[in-house]
Amino acid sequence: MNSRKRILAGLLALCLAGGATAQTKNNQNGKQAFINNLIKKMTLEEKIGQLNLLTSEMDVTGPFMNAGYKKDIEEGRCGSIFNAYTPQYTRQLQDLAMKTRLKIPLLFGYDVIHGHKTIFPIPLGEACTWDLALMEKSARIAAVEASADGLHWTYSPMVDIARDPRWGRVAEGVGEDTWYGVQVAKAKVKGYQGTNLSLNNTILACVKHFALYGAVEAGRDYNTVDMGRQKMYEYYLPPYKAAVDAGVASVMSSFNEIDGIPATANKWLMTDLLRKQWGFKGFVVTDYTAINEMMAHGIGDEYKVGELALKAGIDMDMQGSVYTRQLAKLIADKKLSIAQVDTCVYRILSAKYDLGLFKDPYLYCDNSRPAKEILTPESRATAREIGARSIVLLKNQDELLPLKKAAKIALIGPLADSKRDMIGNWSAAGDYTKSVTLLEGIKQKLGGAGNVTYLRGAHYTSDTTLLKRALQKAVLTAEDTANSAGMLADAVALAQKSDIVVLALGESSGMSGEAASRSDISIPENQEKLLRAVYATGKPVVLVLMNGRPLTLEWEDAHIPAIVETWFLGTEAGNSIADVLFGDYNPAGKLTMTFPRSVGQVPIYYNHKNTGRPEDPNNKYSTKYLDITNEPLYPFGYGLSYTKFTYGPVQLDKTQLKAAATGSVKVSVAVTNSGNYDGEEVVQLYIRDKVASVTRPVKELRNFKKISLKKGENQTVTFELTVNDLKFYNSDLKYVAEPGDFSVFVGGNSRDTKSADFTLVP
Ligand code: BGC
Repeated sequence: MNSRKRILAGLLALCLAGGATAQTKNNQNGKQAFINNLIKKMTLEEKIGQLNLLTSEMDVTGPFMNAGYKKDIEEGRCGSIFNAYTPQYTRQLQDLAMKTRLKIPLLFGYDVIHGHKTIFPIPLGEACTWDLALMEKSARIAAVEASADGLHWTYSPMVDIARDPRWGRVAEGVGEDTWYGVQVAKAKVKGYQGTNLSLNNTILACVKHFALYGAVEAGRDYNTVDMGRQKMYEYYLPPYKAAVDAGVASVMSSFNEIDGIPATANKWLMTDLLRKQWGFKGFVVTDYTAINEMMAHGIGDEYKVGELALKAGIDMDMQGSVYTRQLAKLIADKKLSIAQVDTCVYRILSAKYDLGLFKDPYLYCDNSRPAKEILTPESRATAREIGARSIVLLKNQDELLPLKKAAKIALIGPLADSKRDMIGNWSAAGDYTKSVTLLEGIKQKLGGAGNVTYLRGAHYTSDTTLLKRALQKAVLTAEDTANSAGMLADAVALAQKSDIVVLALGESSGMSGEAASRSDISIPENQEKLLRAVYATGKPVVLVLMNGRPLTLEWEDAHIPAIVETWFLGTEAGNSIADVLFGDYNPAGKLTMTFPRSVGQVPIYYNHKNTGRPEDPNNKYSTKYLDITNEPLYPFGYGLSYTKFTYGPVQLDKTQLKAAATGSVKVSVAVTNSGNYDGEEVVQLYIRDKVASVTRPVKELRNFKKISLKKGENQTVTFELTVNDLKFYNSDLKYVAEPGDFSVFVGGNSRDTKSADFTLVP
């Protein structure tokens, strides 16, 4: 290119860049004009239809369904469908919408929670990777697969902070920490939505369950929440807000109440906070029949709860048809105005517009995509990698792990060869026949050379009521319950003949997730019996856990030499676990939810307050139990490696930071890999505000770095702490940093840390 051409090209680029902003504005104006114009043409019935979301019969995720949904689409009474996918099926339904007077395209939603067809680890497991780029990548792959399968919209991410492992839905979130929850929320929204929603491989995200659902009393699903504002702002609301700041397109209301008013009728929550304070521009959908359920909450009949929901700011009614039945009457009675309905319609049409559906309603109905884009070798390889990185090594006495390939291995347990369980709960479209079990993973790893023998050993549980619920079956088959005593004896005999026993125990995939709260979170008694009988043989035992929540493992921790937490790792589970067991991947996962010693300690979380009488074993009148310590079994951030990391002292570049300045305190720590393997470590940074106008937790996570160190290698890890990192919500709900003394802690988990102090000066 000669210089004249270069100048011209430069000028052209400048014009284009300037043009792009003008174009965005024009697009925005064009969109507004288009939608407003469309709304002008709509009848009230057509408007109400846009607020109605119905499930298809392909997959039903709640209590009842509307058999006439196809007719409703055709007659303009339903604007969105969930639980319907594949390009063929969504095209068929879109065809019905194209027969309506105004041809407004349908929006297709689905619970794509941890992958669509390539299933990744359950979110609580994936969180243990502490790898935000990988978490974004799994969401991206999920979006590509879902969109190839005709879907526009996922009901994810679930960002409910949870401190109570009895609640089965802890499996769907990333655990107890707010700061970490904020980072993951942003990564997930970015992964699903990308940077351009009108591309056919990006989908709308839906942050849920707004709000505070993770704080249900007693860990019982659908239960009441009671929480003060300061706690809400500080610990429970930030992840939802982070999703909003990241541009999440939709928000789902939660089932619980807030300040005595169900979220779905809560105007303070849905309008004052979400829209006015946070500036949310997308649409709000209810959870499944949440408007109807407000009748049981006791705040009115169907007519009243419909009015309350719309007035609160709820745009779309999921499966309840309350808006369909009540809105016209409410408008005729002047309880609601057409303008209020138009606002909801606008927001929903706007999402359809952003997806490009008005240009091409069949944009996501490409029959050639699934074969090319779903369950590709690359996405399976990513699932395997994320799976291995999600594993948390809880104990490894005398370096029992990694396993030696030449050993004679007994693989025992109801979870050792169960394809269904590998993909966990909320793996809606996942095809479990495609998943790899631990037995298959070990066999592949050993090739023809190894020696592994498998026996089931026990059923999940002998409690038939729990078993039915765990298997999600109304009637148990003979296979579900047959021959328990013989199974155990055979397993013990196999153990005796082997060099080492790998026991795969825990929960079935149906024992966590929605409507799967447990009051006892130990390994079910049948499996525990098997574990103890095998342990009694004196053979070395590796306990491979599969479960959707923290379990109570005091006996196991005291007796079993090696314990590996594997959650439900998804399609590639067996390969991921085998990679770790045989040392091809050195585990580096760290817990994001505390493991209690006993369910009596629940709720339990690392960032608790100090109380006026901190635990003191020698003082009866201190905050403690008579029978156990307050300390958890495995703290937040905990996880071992096959190697060892040692931490040097925490060094600060200054001991005073000016509150008004934009500067920072540099925090440095030398970390050494002092063990026998190359490995990765999640270096965690916590702070404590020692004196403040409202009481502060004993520790709060503020940053982390995941580093990789070769055997013998050492690295200085540096963090910058800014004034912003020291802020909290005061009693006026102002986000402030108060001058005073702070401690900084750095370590490989929230318990074992080194610290230094500095002062924030006015
Ligand atoms: C769950 C939601 C889910 C919805 C749709 C509800 O029961 O609480 O998380 O997105 O069903 O399946």
